[in-house]
Amino acid sequence: MAAAPTEEARLARLVAAHERWRGHGVFNLLASENAISPRARRYLGSDLAGRYTLPLSAEFEGERIDNSYAGTRYTDEIERLANAAAARLFHGRFATTRPLSGHIAALSALAPLLPRGSKLLAIEPSAGGYDGYASGFIPALLGYQVRPLPLASASARLDADRAIEEIQRERPAAVVLGQSFFLFPYPLREIAEAAHAQDALVFYDGSHVLGLIAGGRFQDPLREGADVLFGSTHKSFPGPQGGLLVTDREDLFQQIDPALVWRIFDNAHWHRIAALGQTLLELERVGKEYATTTVENAQALGRALHGAGLSILAADDGFTESHQIHLDRKALKERHAIAPGALARRWERQRLITDLVGRLGTAEVARLGLIPSDMPRLAELLIRAGPRHERVGAEVLAWRREFHGLRFQ
Ligand SMILES: Cc1ncc(COP(=O)(O)O)c(C=O)c1O
Repeated sequence: MAAAPTEEARLARLVAAHERWRGHGVFNLLASENAISPRARRYLGSDLAGRYTLPLSAEFEGERIDNSYAGTRYTDEIERLANAAAARLFHGRFATTRPLSGHIAALSALAPLLPRGSKLLAIEPSAGGYDGYASGFIPALLGYQVRPLPLASASARLDADRAIEEIQRERPAAVVLGQSFFLFPYPLREIAEAAHAQDALVFYDGSHVLGLIAGGRFQDPLREGADVLFGSTHKSFPGPQGGLLVTDREDLFQQIDPALVWRIFDNAHWHRIAALGQTLLELERVGKEYATTTVENAQALGRALHGAGLSILAADDGFTESHQIHLDRKALKERHAIAPGALARRWERQRLITDLVGRLGTAEVARLGLIPSDMPRLAELLIRAGPRHERVGAEVLAWRREFHGLRFQ
């Protein structure tokens, strides 16, 4: 039975209402999100959205075929172009833009290279690591053991000596770097040297910081010794939701690439890959300026909030070198008698969107056009809407309406 037209109308209204609110009516300070360029957005809605292609080299009933489908003369070239841009931008010779998300990119890297029973070192979620690497998730799925790579807290720097000691003691098959709460680059050269000395691979999950890496403002994982870099393409990287993977090691790529199709996914969503290709090319042109503004915004917002009495972690270390800053959750409860989730709900009601776990991110507001000198005003609105519980929604909306279009594209 066909869906009632009223349900279709309701769905249309919901999508339009979402667009007005999240697209034009708030400042988005979610560290995991971003705004994609109009051109990349158009590609997401192009004919590619419904197409298949499966480039492969296979024997089918006595005939060699190079694709399961006909009609792919442009899609295949789009993929080659996007992969080449990813390889250039992240300084590896081999890249794939097929992974459907950051999590899928992690599976794409780990599953083909590490057999069941392998031991991993990864940062624990309690210290800001990604939940997916906790024992019940990817390690359970792929049959790995996981041990903590020591990090004092989610807002601290990784200590090279302690990490190396742990690598030498645990003798893992792989070290997986990367965090969901991610402020500071790693002492990667030292860690990679220690890992490689005992034949362990170094994976760098750059999901949160990929846009900053692209702009040369965080660290350069492959040149600093990581074997494989992968991550989400929609957090600090301002692309469509998805993932990518880059390596300079042909031996590893030859194991990874053929293992993707039919193990990790089948069709790779070519509208997404076209949009991702566009974003990669945009960042080749303007990535440095984008990443610099984003990081400087985060540092300025940290200073302004902290100065106004809302404690931000890592204050004695410049607050951050990424797009994130972290609320001091303990001080929040003690000084302002509010938990981060309740604070985020207050902010949401006043058109200031954050996550409920204490991170603020400045990537999307940088794309809108906010610069470091705007951060004291943003901090003031956050303080008034949050700890002071004032109604500032109309003020936020009036300010938001001053920004049209997107920068850095
Ligand atoms: C470090 C890290 N890796 C992987 C992921 C998963 O990314 P995605 O949502 O693109 O699958 C996340 C998501 O937050 C993350 O923080």
